[in-house]
Amino acid sequence: MVRTAIAVLLGVALGIAALGAQAPDSQVEKGKEVFTRMKCLLCHKLGDKGGALAPVLDGVARRRDAESMRRLLEHPDKEMKDPQYKVTMPAFPFKDGELDELVAYLQTLK
Ligand code: HEC
Repeated sequence: MVRTAIAVLLGVALGIAALGAQAPDSQVEKGKEVFTRMKCLLCHKLGDKGGALAPVLDGVARRRDAESMRRLLEHPDKEMKDPQYKVTMPAFPFKDGELDELVAYLQTLK
């Protein structure tokens, strides 16, 4: 019972945090740079660029929230489920802040 109440409170708190958490433009710009540097388009397609080995990233922010993107990028080995893909997303060696920047950028792809 107490546990449920805590879970509900936590959910509300996270929801409010998410509402206020509009990433600043500079973070989005940096994330775009990380995205290019790490060559995500070797597998993914965005607009008319990129590969066909992985899901198209146009509109990905409508399918996944920041938290689920973060989980996937940190532990692709655990989070990848769809058997239609023949490749596994590598676990990228993100430095301080890079994962946040990347997720901020990916969240703009609506
Ligand atoms: C070696 C190929 C490969 C590379 C390189 C790669 N990915 Fe992926 N990625 C995949 C595959 C395959 C999936 C599908 C996983 C699944 O659904 O099981 C995926 C899934 C995703 C998803 C979820 C897509 C969705 O529709 O829900 C995101 C977001 C993502 N990748 C971001 C990135 C980013 C950012 C990079 C660069 C840092 C990157 N990926 C590099 C292969 C790759």
